Amino acid sequence: MRRPMIAGNWKMNTDLASGTELAKGLASHVAGKDSSVDVLVCPPFPYLQAIKEAVGDSGISVGAQNCYFEESGAFTGEVSVDMLQDIGCDWVILGHSERRHVLGECDGTINKKTKAAIAKNLGVVLCVGELLEERESDKTGEVLDTQMKGGLADVSEADLSKIIIAYEPVWAIGTGKTASPEQADQAHAHLRNWLSSNYSQAAAEAMRILYGGSVKPSNAEELLGQPNVDGALVGGASLTVDNFGPIIDAG
Ligand code: G3P
Repeated sequence: MRRPMIAGNWKMNTDLASGTELAKGLASHVAGKDSSVDVLVCPPFPYLQAIKEAVGDSGISVGAQNCYFEESGAFTGEVSVDMLQDIGCDWVILGHSERRHVLGECDGTINKKTKAAIAKNLGVVLCVGELLEERESDKTGEVLDTQMKGGLADVSEADLSKIIIAYEPVWAIGTGKTASPEQADQAHAHLRNWLSSNYSQAAAEAMRILYGGSVKPSNAEELLGQPNVDGALVGGASLTVDNFGPIIDAG
């Protein structure tokens, strides 16, 4: 059985006061409930440490939204894996579509970052997903295969245990258009098949694959009920306890 994860990607939102309040609210929300779901929040870099303190011993993990692959040195503006671990991060999101399509990150860079993170046991949420025009021209499978191959190049089967895949169709991110539960499940099954062909059946079955793209309380239960959907990576709806709380509960 794969343990579900509900992850919140706060993107470039919140400030110190509102982020701390949100984290405390989420900690209260999960308090006393059985922890059959992993909960992760990924605030902006400047607030990581404060959010780590705010979630306390609630069981909620804290992750970053990016990292760099070099260990230290003259890389102005970058943040290393060691720095993230130093302040208590357990996870990093890599290959998010906004980094790919707004900031020009390619599979090669994403792969270097992935390998740097897993080399130090920092968990990776590796995002993949197709553009609308790619889906409309039946290229979804091809795009996912390329992103999986590129992102996971030279990653061993043993190291896959430190990775979670997030399927985020770009056309569903922040648009209010959610993939239908069938579309999500089909894409996740495709990713699982890729893992089976390129690693093993066991690796494919063990991999947690999250869905991301306009997840909200009203659609979470149905999406999370799909056999190949092991959780959610949530953007906009992760910014309030009123929305993220019910999504956690649906996990
Ligand atoms: O990483 C989460 C994401 O890109 C989805 O964002 O706002 O559509 O839930 P949103």
